[in-house]
Amino acid sequence: MYLTRQEEHMLDGEYGWACQICMQILVKLGELYGATRLIPVSSAHISGVSYKTVGDAAIDFLREMMKKGAKTKTFSTLNPSSIDPYLTNRLPRGLIEKQTEILRLYERIGVVPSLSCTPYYEFVPAKNSTLAWAESSAVVYANSILEAWTNREGAPSALASAIIGKTPNYGVHQPENREPNIIIDVLFQPRNEVEYGALGYYIGEIVKDKIPIVRGLKNALSDELKQFGAALASSGMASMFHYRKEPKTDKRSEVVTVERREIENVIEKLSSSKFKPDMIFIGCPHCSLQEIKKLTSLVEGKKLKSNVEFWICVSRYIKNQTKDFIKVIENSGAKVLTDTCAVVTWTDRLGIKRIVTNSVKAAHYLPTMNRAEVFLASMEDCVKIAYE
Ligand code: F3S
Repeated sequence: MYLTRQEEHMLDGEYGWACQICMQILVKLGELYGATRLIPVSSAHISGVSYKTVGDAAIDFLREMMKKGAKTKTFSTLNPSSIDPYLTNRLPRGLIEKQTEILRLYERIGVVPSLSCTPYYEFVPAKNSTLAWAESSAVVYANSILEAWTNREGAPSALASAIIGKTPNYGVHQPENREPNIIIDVLFQPRNEVEYGALGYYIGEIVKDKIPIVRGLKNALSDELKQFGAALASSGMASMFHYRKEPKTDKRSEVVTVERREIENVIEKLSSSKFKPDMIFIGCPHCSLQEIKKLTSLVEGKKLKSNVEFWICVSRYIKNQTKDFIKVIENSGAKVLTDTCAVVTWTDRLGIKRIVTNSVKAAHYLPTMNRAEVFLASMEDCVKIAYE
């Protein structure tokens, strides 16, 4: 892998320990995957923020980075943490302090505390721009819907790119690796976001790390594609999909058809039998402006049942943009949380054992990460369960 003289000096430690470690991470990755050089990135999005998922080792590492002068060289944002103001009185003080320390360290390093898995609503990456993003749902959205270019980074490599301002040019940074190599024919029309999510989940299991072109998504809304992509990335390793262009008539491309019954099986597999929920959770990935508006119209004038919590998770940016809508939602008894989500905080410590959600990605993770039973229902049905 070719390195400029300055990059070699960084690797040799002449720019300090923090730069050296970051260069080592990027060069190792690049050599492993056949990169030829490092390329500049216009932004990095860093995961590994929730204390629940990263633990004390991350605090030690970040503290060392900060002490040794690590500073971001490119615009960098953060994935959700484990707390929001609503939760700080409900969780043990020790956990809050550890999480606060992680956020303080990232900020000292220069990362913008956006604390959302949908950084693209506030900071829209330009078409064809080069990024280094972790958070698989955001990676798929950036590559497939926004047509920016990013590999599926892990927390260390996204942080390393933030500090160095570059990423190795392997994977989907090469135009030929962005070409579809499997065709998916969807033989039915998904009816809501849960079915789009289940479709993504099913296809993710089939394609693994291949790049699918999916026929049948052309009329999908961006929020439906968001659910599709988040689920695609949960069940497999895909970093993007195509849905606009017509597949090339390459006879060697594998063609897979998907029928409704396959999607119904996915929903059944991810859902427990119907139960009385402790919580309804919407906002995985964090809600868009349109989703907040839709939710507002669904809950306006209603009163939440007394024995259930209703969490709606959004970025600070979307919450600020929708203040009047949020008032209506919160007047109904629901809570609009920023900076976190039901997966990356400790819902089990809050006594929440049964969760209804419209997110297939959340349904994939909640049973293992939060020991919760899950039932999948569309936003409309979630509202019915919460209010009627
Ligand atoms: Fe975002 Fe949490 Fe889902 S970080 S993608 S809302 S699991």
